[in-house]
Amino acid sequence: MLTDVAGNSPRAGVFPLGRTARIAVLASGRGSNLASLLAAFPPGHGAGPADVQAQQLGSLALVISNKPTAPALTVARAAGVEAVYVAWDAEHPRSLFESEVTRLLDGSGIDLVCLAGFMRVLSPEFTERYAGRLLNIHPSLLPDFRGLHAQRQALAAGVSEAGCTVHLVDGGVDTGQALVQLRVPVLPGDTEATLSERILAAEHLAYPQAVTAELRAVRP
Ligand code: GRF
Repeated sequence: MLTDVAGNSPRAGVFPLGRTARIAVLASGRGSNLASLLAAFPPGHGAGPADVQAQQLGSLALVISNKPTAPALTVARAAGVEAVYVAWDAEHPRSLFESEVTRLLDGSGIDLVCLAGFMRVLSPEFTERYAGRLLNIHPSLLPDFRGLHAQRQALAAGVSEAGCTVHLVDGGVDTGQALVQLRVPVLPGDTEATLSERILAAEHLAYPQAVTAELRAVRP
């Protein structure tokens, strides 16, 4: 029986696929979580049964950014992954962005979509279309400190423990089912920068762990 961190169960059974999953990442910025996913799920796999025998569960196949200068695009290209800028700005509303992204994801046969520092809110129609195969990482122990500046919120609240959550994306902001949470201490004298750095190191472990569990359809 599958359970989430709160002991709830079950979740939609999209995985396992029985072949190497094709993974896409949507990112708006730096791309350090993308880099951790690239290391765990290198590109260039997914040709067939040999990958499954090699236990290659997933392979990064596509990166999309809403920012033309996002370092994440450079990170992807350096690793040999197709990296595409899709506009979402004053002239290109969310609906246009989402229809182009849907075309790219489906055209590339993507099985799992990971939001990694993707700083926009997707529509309920989009999240419903990819329900069960759309993940996000958030720098707090959800349900605490949803939304922007989670680390700043944690410091303001005076908590002694912080962390990150990888969760399924639903129609809300940071409201979907939690899959993996990793905890870090809040230390005396922490600033937003030092706490963010400690949480980020945990994120780089949590995201590959959550994706692995998701593709195996097991609890980590
Ligand atoms: C991470 O802290 C992530 O949790 C948040 O945005 C940051 C993205 O960092 N949503 P990076 O672009 O993956 O380095």
